[in-house]
Amino acid sequence: MTHYRIDALRQTLVLAAPSDGLPHCTFWGARLPDGADLAQVAASAALDLTGGMLDANPELTLCPQTAAAFPGQPGLVVRSPDGTPLRPVFTKAGTKRTDTLSLAYTDEDLGLTLTFRFAADAATGIITASTTLDSDTPVLCDWLAAPVLPGPQLADQMIDFAGRWCDEFQPVTTPWATGIRARDNRTGRTGHEHFPAIILPARGCTNTGGEAHALHYGWSGGHRMLAEELPDGRRQIQFGHATASDPLPGTRFETAPLYAAFSDTGLNGCAVSFQRHLRDRIVTWPQPDTPRPVHYNCWEAIYFDHSLAALTAIADRAAALGAERFVLDDGWFKGRNDDTTSLGDWTIDATKWPDGLTPLIDHIHGLGMTFGLWFEPEMVNADSDLARAHPDWILGPTTQPLGRGQYVLDMANADLRDHLFTQITTTLSTHDIEYIKWDHNRVLPYNDAAQTRGTYDLLKRLRDAHPEVEIESCSSGGGRIDFGIMAHTQRVWLSDSNDALSRLRIQHDAALFLPSCVTGSHVGPRTCHTTGRIHSISFRAWVAAQRHMGFEMDPRELTDAEAATLTKVTAWYKANRDWLRTADILRLDAADPAIIAEQQQAADGTRFVVFAGHAGTSTQIAPRPLRLTGLDPAASYTIDLANREDISSLSRGTPALKSGPLTLTGQSLMSQGIALPYDLPDSMWIIEGHRA
Ligand code: GLA
Repeated sequence: MTHYRIDALRQTLVLAAPSDGLPHCTFWGARLPDGADLAQVAASAALDLTGGMLDANPELTLCPQTAAAFPGQPGLVVRSPDGTPLRPVFTKAGTKRTDTLSLAYTDEDLGLTLTFRFAADAATGIITASTTLDSDTPVLCDWLAAPVLPGPQLADQMIDFAGRWCDEFQPVTTPWATGIRARDNRTGRTGHEHFPAIILPARGCTNTGGEAHALHYGWSGGHRMLAEELPDGRRQIQFGHATASDPLPGTRFETAPLYAAFSDTGLNGCAVSFQRHLRDRIVTWPQPDTPRPVHYNCWEAIYFDHSLAALTAIADRAAALGAERFVLDDGWFKGRNDDTTSLGDWTIDATKWPDGLTPLIDHIHGLGMTFGLWFEPEMVNADSDLARAHPDWILGPTTQPLGRGQYVLDMANADLRDHLFTQITTTLSTHDIEYIKWDHNRVLPYNDAAQTRGTYDLLKRLRDAHPEVEIESCSSGGGRIDFGIMAHTQRVWLSDSNDALSRLRIQHDAALFLPSCVTGSHVGPRTCHTTGRIHSISFRAWVAAQRHMGFEMDPRELTDAEAATLTKVTAWYKANRDWLRTADILRLDAADPAIIAEQQQAADGTRFVVFAGHAGTSTQIAPRPLRLTGLDPAASYTIDLANREDISSLSRGTPALKSGPLTLTGQSLMSQGIALPYDLPDSMWIIEGHRA
């Protein structure tokens, strides 16, 4: 038996690898001391036997095997092309340990090789794992799991994610029980409904304390997850592509990377690992040293009603408010007057834009802003030149129900990809465009990994040809957010909801994985277009300033007072964005369930800002003190309210922060917390902190 340990900052994974079978995980948890005896670790994990069991416990290996009589769900289901089930018996073929650990196993009779790969990141604390199946002759692979890890025994619950258009990242909590919790996303895209992750909090874990394990599957084509508790009490977690994603016989099948985090500092420890890993390892930034520019996006201002006069007037106001990047959304291309036509025809509409886009782009550059443009490359309307010329490029039958009046294009087709590349690259090469909002507004007729691979390929090709262009992943808002798409993009449009109250909640839960610098957040219209709610400009602006800030209303609707507030908050964002870009988002445990609060903490711990959003009506009269987290207990911190002008006349007392700063120890801030002034629902306090 050989033992391997994989260490990443706060976590250790230990594998035991016999020569005559697949390896299994003997430990996944807090980092073990150097020199820990791994054989003893494995011995301490071995289960006893009693009645009703086999004479030896089939191991919960990195790919549990049917042939080994494993009593739960197997990690591999493979058949010969005629449909005969194959039940491989793998033995060790080779090990390579460089920066990554690679363990290969073969079944020589069947000509199958299974390879597990692990990489550990000492700075972010993430372990990345994947599985590959190679076959000498074509086989059908119905299911291939990324390395299967044991679920912790002290977890009573699991959290995975549901959601919908305008309400993404909804945590779903399920108690562990014998049997399976399965997620199988057959929509062909990550989906609002299926963010591919699981969090396994140990009993008593909160945002700020306790143990949690977490996994994220970095794939944009839909995932399958199994969280199974066996009758013997063991638990296993499997992640892979959604069922039947690779429907044809092949000689190589590969899972996406599975990202594993462990924390003994509450859910925040896992969240910070994911945030840092996405920001520092997955995303490649065209201009890493350039501040995140404040966006203006015209969608909710004008929809399809484009005119140079209106857009230049809007751009003037947006620039005066502080916008630095102007994104021309849907409606600029040939015949696109509503959402029923023209997707696929990526040439400039000559009626709306008789002189092309250059006059607008010049005007925007004249205001000191850069220019971005909307595309939805993977889609086509039936009423389009492209669909008329190439009905054969449509994915699935033309009798399928449309989604937003559109079909999906077959991205596995290299000719189609060449065509899309040419159309987009021509637009980029003939205009000064430094940003693409890349949309994807319907589900696929069926899931197909080749579609996702085709999209990744096109994105890579465009990025290679235009490395200076930044890309935003949008999919009716947050329908395609995952670490797979983020390897090709730099920003996500988290939600089509610009409702500040909804956003506050979505941002809070998305922060379990997403850092602020990739998370787009816009100040919407006074009356929200997706909820009909009216929120103050202060609340809307501060919620947007929590993430990568932008505006999306018609700025001509703003009163002078609203414009002044928005200008002030935007200036605050600009003054702070550089350190916020590399800050950790720490979710706070608010004693009042009506409060959604977070602390964004600088990488060096010298400063922080707390956003305390009031997301409902509190049951008690006075605000409950808010406890901070992650501070040095012995250090002193000066805290101050950044938006004192928002104190309402209903606050009649004298809490200290109403009149000036306070200096307190980290211990006091983390134990007792701070009493905030009375405030109204749908408002937010901003508290800035500096280490003395
Ligand atoms: C999707 C996006 C919106 C907008 C529209 C344009 O719904 O999420 O932000 O770009 O498409 O049609």
